[in-house]
This record gives sequence, C-alpha cells and structure tokens, in this order.
Amino acid sequence: MAYNLLKGKRGIIFGALDENSIAWKVAQRAHEEGAVFTLTNAPIAMRMGEINKLAEACGAVVIPADATSIEELENLFDKSMEILGGKIDFILHSIGMSPNIRKGKEYGDMNYDWFLKTLDVSALSFHKIMHVAEKKDAMNEYGSILALSYIAAQRVFPDYTDMADAKSTLESIARGYGARFAKLKKVRVNTISQSPTKTTAGKGISGFGAFYDFADLMSPLGNASADECAGYSIVLFSDLTRKVTMQNLMHDGGFSSTGMTPEIMQLFEDRTNS
Ligand SMILES: NC(=O)c1ccc[n+]([C@@H]2O[C@H](COP(=O)([O-])OP(=O)(O)OC[C@H]3O[C@@H](n4cnc5c(N)ncnc54)[C@H](O)[C@@H]3O)[C@@H](O)[C@H]2O)c1
Repeated sequence: MAYNLLKGKRGIIFGALDENSIAWKVAQRAHEEGAVFTLTNAPIAMRMGEINKLAEACGAVVIPADATSIEELENLFDKSMEILGGKIDFILHSIGMSPNIRKGKEYGDMNYDWFLKTLDVSALSFHKIMHVAEKKDAMNEYGSILALSYIAAQRVFPDYTDMADAKSTLESIARGYGARFAKLKKVRVNTISQSPTKTTAGKGISGFGAFYDFADLMSPLGNASADECAGYSIVLFSDLTRKVTMQNLMHDGGFSSTGMTPEIMQLFEDRTNS
C-alpha cells in the first residue's frame, strides 16, 4: 500500500546490486511513494546488468560512481540534479565491502591495505558523499541522508572482523556530519541498524546462516526483512521524521534489547536434558 510519502521528492540511491539488495527494495518503495531518483553503483557492479531492470521499472537513470572517488561523486551529483531537475531531498548509502572478509582473513591477521579499503568503501564513502553534497549545495532543506549499519558496531560477533570497525566509523560519521548538516541546511543524517538479511553482502560473511537463525530466535518480532527495512527508510526520507537526526536506529525485531528469548532457552534446556 502506498501513501504518497515521497511525492515530489528527488533522491540518489546507492547500492542496488540485485533484487535481494536492500537498496533495490528501497528503490521500489520510493518509486511507489512518488519519488524520482537516480540509481548508482560501482562501475564494476554494473557488469551484472541487473540494475538496468530496476531502473526501467522505476523510470530511473543509472549513473555509475565508485563511492570512494570524489571525482565520480561530483559527476553523480551534477548529473542527478540535471536529470531530476533540482536539488536532492534524500540519499540512501547502502554500501559495504571488506576484502579481508572476502579473502577469509581473521581479525588477528588483517591485511592493512585491505583494512583501509574496507574503511574507505564502507564508511568514509558516506563522509565523501556528504562532503560533495555540501560543496555543491546539492541538498534541499529538511533533506534526509541515510546509511545502513549493523549491530556489530556495538557488540562483537564472530567473523564480522573489520566490517565492525567500519560500521562504528559509519555511525560516528552520521553523528558528526549530522550536526554539521543540521546547522547548514536543516538536513538530517541517520543510520539504520538492520537485522541480518539474505543479500550478497550478508551471505559473504562466513557462518551467515547461523547469524541469521540466531538473530531470528533472539528477536521477539523475528528478523526484519529487506522489504521492512525499505519501509522504515521511506519513513525516514519522508516529512514525518524531520527532527530525527544523528541517530543509529535499531531495525531488528527487538534483538538489541533482548537478553534471552524462550526459544533460545528451549534450545539450551534441550541440550542440558539430553
Ligand atoms: N545483509 C545484511 O545482513 C546486512 C545487515 C545490516 C546492514 N547491512 C548493510 O546494508 C548495506 C547494503 O548491503 P546489502 O546487504 O543490501 O548487500 P548488497 O551486496 O546487495 O549491497 C552492497 C552494495 O555495495 C556496493 N558497493 C561495493 N563497493 C562499492 C563502491 N566502491 N562504490 C559504490 N558501491 C559499492 C555493491 O556493488 C553492492 O551494490 C551495506 O552497508 C551492509 O553492510 C546488511
């Protein structure tokens, strides 16, 4: 069901790789809610060609940009404002990648060049996007900028390694730039801390199935899906959340406030009694 929450709003959506991507679902919902937007991803991710299907369905133009390149981001903002016919109201940063995780490096055995790459792609890119938006005066007043995070920013989980450090940095950047952008243009900046979700990035973490099932049993409402994350993102882009800023917002079915659930207790009772 659509509510026209984004009618007349212009946006830029980063990170739709395939139909499982959280950004893909956000784009579909933003389109349903009346927004116009450009879609972007790293040029290398375009090779799959999937994003063109989404663009066609949403009437969006695709503009390649490596989110770590200031030059490519400048081109993206220039072209987006030209194509959309004005300044930007919302931005979704749905980007994450760790070469150390990809190559199975343990936390005690990091390749530091790759560690820097993880931080650049997964966290600093958020700062760079806002830096370019500010420099180009590209945001409308009361615009909304959002990135996706994970609870490993606050708590330790196996095998999330340097992505945990990237997520902590990402959330810190949301506070730092949120304070700045609030004063400059009344723009709000937040992160959503999302449940484990079955996407390319999610499934890249070793033991992801166990992460997913554990979180599901530890969340009174169960894991939040990518579709539900899209719904929450739309609310944060809308005018209904104008004073929400500099927050890391948990979207996790209650996981982050739960000590134990009856389902997990049952598992251990079964184990104790066996
Ligand atoms: N899947 C999960 O379990 C989960 C949970 C919490 C948070 N998140 C976060 O959600 C966000 C989206 O991930 P997803 O799960 O939809 O997976 P995904 O793999 O579909 O999306 C990740 C995207 O990052 C893009 N990307 C990588 N390097 C880039 C670069 N240099 N420039 C521009 N784009 C680049 C990829 O091309 C891809 O589209 C990420 O920040 C991720 O950490 C995911």
